[in-house]
Amino acid sequence: MSTESPKSFHIKNYGCQMNVYDGERMAEMFAARGMEASDKADADLVILNTCHIREKAAEKVYSEIGRLRRKDGSSPLIAVAGCVAQAEGGEISRRASEVDIVVGPQAYHKLPDMVDAVTRGESSVDLDLPGLDKFDTLPRRRKTGPTAFLTVQEGCDKFCTYCVVPYTRGAEISRPFADLVDEARALVDAGAREITLLGQNVNAWEADGQDLGTLIRALDRIDGLRRIRYTTSHPNDMTDGLIAAHAEVEKLMPYLHLPVQAGNDRILKAMNRSHSRDSYLRIIEKVRAARPDIALSGDFIVGFPGETDAEFEDTLSILREAAFAQSFSFKYSPRPGTPAATMDGQIAPEVADERLQRLQAQINAQQLAFNQATVGKRTSVLLEKQGRFDGQLIGRSPWLQSVHILGEGLSIGDIVDVDIVEAGPLSLKGELLMQVAA
Ligand code: SAH
Ligand code: SF4
Ligand code: F3S
Repeated sequence: MSTESPKSFHIKNYGCQMNVYDGERMAEMFAARGMEASDKADADLVILNTCHIREKAAEKVYSEIGRLRRKDGSSPLIAVAGCVAQAEGGEISRRASEVDIVVGPQAYHKLPDMVDAVTRGESSVDLDLPGLDKFDTLPRRRKTGPTAFLTVQEGCDKFCTYCVVPYTRGAEISRPFADLVDEARALVDAGAREITLLGQNVNAWEADGQDLGTLIRALDRIDGLRRIRYTTSHPNDMTDGLIAAHAEVEKLMPYLHLPVQAGNDRILKAMNRSHSRDSYLRIIEKVRAARPDIALSGDFIVGFPGETDAEFEDTLSILREAAFAQSFSFKYSPRPGTPAATMDGQIAPEVADERLQRLQAQINAQQLAFNQATVGKRTSVLLEKQGRFDGQLIGRSPWLQSVHILGEGLSIGDIVDVDIVEAGPLSLKGELLMQVAA
């Protein structure tokens, strides 16, 4: 059965920032075909850009598909993209017959053609992992807010024993240097003042013998670009060149997201992290020597198979010892097809819950302490959005804290100097510096 060509689209993103980037690129492709972005309820085409990192991811997608059915019983065209698509494949259209398109994270540049195929009455599945092909066919960047994402590297070769990413995103692969400088320029021309370089292992980026530090130095020379960030990094890829960039490149913000996952060597080994507690701490020491005020952020997993109380205490102690300013913490979730899912010693949910609560209490306390330590500092804030109140704007400090400011005549995208006057667990209050008339 053939259907009419869709005129409007809606993209729902799940998961990490790389999916946000991919969702933006999909939107650009459909806009280039003259389609309009619209609400989920009205869209002719709905794309679910999915994440498979933790449990119930697939279930969430299936229940969302069910909710897309309209009151009159009809459904929009439905495409399942992203990491659940890659992991579940054709199984998705078998379980949910409403799904018209299944497309993996490396093949979404083919979505417009796949939509055409569906309108001709063909079903469409593409789970190729062809690497970088998609970037050559995507339209040039024209639209952005003051902060933009730029994917520089895809995939992962690390194979941590709990993680699906190497299977859903494929092998580590870096985009060419010139393409990245070009895309960064296009983003800045379109209004970006801050660019966050993205990759599942962003600091594994390398091309023609150059590392991420070199790329950052090249971007530093782009006029109009004021701030550079990158995420997510692996400890083993923190090269000396990248660490030195933190000392030398003023635009590189003093913030590093460097997941450690656990503080105990036996657990780190079972996770196949290929760094130890000590080697991690030594890297942090080097980074702090280069940039003493850096805010360190981490990811932690509690309840990995076999984790004892004492081993969990090591996670609490590395959180303190490395003085993390901010952290994300997760209860271990067995993922189909990963080695850890079938390891002995799976931890009872109530034990993992209790560990997660203790870890989060300490993370929150450290985050508050870090925020409070910025009170009294004078710093720059990039304004990103309107606040809830009249005249209130919300932006980010160099350390990625959310800062609330009251002021007149300010615009989104301005970078203003403020005094930090108050701090809570999640945000700071900044006062604009008054211009004193001469
Ligand atoms: N590439 C990054 C992030 C990958 S996914 C890195 O190597 O650190 C983001 C985070 O999800 C991971 O850092 C990890 O803390 C968490 N995570 C991944 N798989 C998980 C699982 N099976 N259960 C619980 N948390 C998981
Ligand atoms: Fe997953 Fe480990 Fe790769 Fe990060 S480094 S994406 S946690 S396998
Ligand atoms: Fe999720 Fe895939 Fe990102 S599994 S975290 S969307 S790489």
